[in-house]
Amino acid sequence: MDNIVIFGSGGHSKVVIDIVEKEGRYNIVGLVDPFQPIGKEVLGYEVIGDLQDLIEMNETVLGGIVAMGDNWKRYETVKRIQELLPTFYFVKAIHPSAQIGKNVTIGNGTVVMANTVINSHTSIRDHCIINTKSSIDHDGCLHNFVTIAPGATLAGSVSIGDHSVISIGATVIHNRNIGRHTVIGAGSTVLHDIDSYVVAYGTPAKSIRERKEGEPYL
Ligand SMILES: CC(C)(COP(=O)(O)OP(=O)(O)OC[C@H]1O[C@@H](n2cnc3c(N)ncnc32)[C@H](O)[C@@H]1OP(=O)(O)O)[C@@H](O)C(=O)NCCC(=O)NCCS
Repeated sequence: MDNIVIFGSGGHSKVVIDIVEKEGRYNIVGLVDPFQPIGKEVLGYEVIGDLQDLIEMNETVLGGIVAMGDNWKRYETVKRIQELLPTFYFVKAIHPSAQIGKNVTIGNGTVVMANTVINSHTSIRDHCIINTKSSIDHDGCLHNFVTIAPGATLAGSVSIGDHSVISIGATVIHNRNIGRHTVIGAGSTVLHDIDSYVVAYGTPAKSIRERKEGEPYL
């Protein structure tokens, strides 16, 4: 089995560790986290240091996965890794219980969690999170660094722009487009297209305010 590292050692990385173990494709050699002491243990794996330490051991690992729940933090970490190690390989992690339809594509660095459904001819790009028990129907398109939170439901032909979030339990009807860097609030029902750079919520979901790139939402 090829060796990989996981970037991050918080709650989200615990879920990613479990998925990687259940898939059985990669051996996790450790967790890269500059904010935690070396040797700290999470679910049986140790923090092995920061990106500089990874450079020293890079020859012995195939790649890794950035396990950070916040879209912007995940993006900044991926960018830093690519600056230091331009050919670093980002692996994907797909829970064995996920139902993946025909002609679905899933990009590098993306995590697909337990009991998700991704229906036919949907494209999910790089470094996305398809969280527990969410559902994305046919012909969807999720751009890079998107999060679909637990229990969110997207009907057919929904497009979500880079860095946007569909929060927990929200629903988006068919053929709708959601822009970039937008957050759809928990439990919302999206009946109309939603612009980029906004926070929108409610039933029907309406843009409530503007949102800056990288603004926290968790
Ligand atoms: C939308 C969200 C990001 C908050 O946006 P915000 O602009 O910072 O909103 P605030 O928390 O300051 O709340 C402002 C008002 O909007 C309301 N509000 C916030 N989110 C709402 C939602 N999803 N639906 C309805 N009303 C909402 C609040 O109750 C509050 O109302 P009040 O002023 O009458 O008390 C947050 O509510 C949310 O949905 N986060 C996502 C959580 C999630 O999915 N976590 C799992 C990720 S894996």
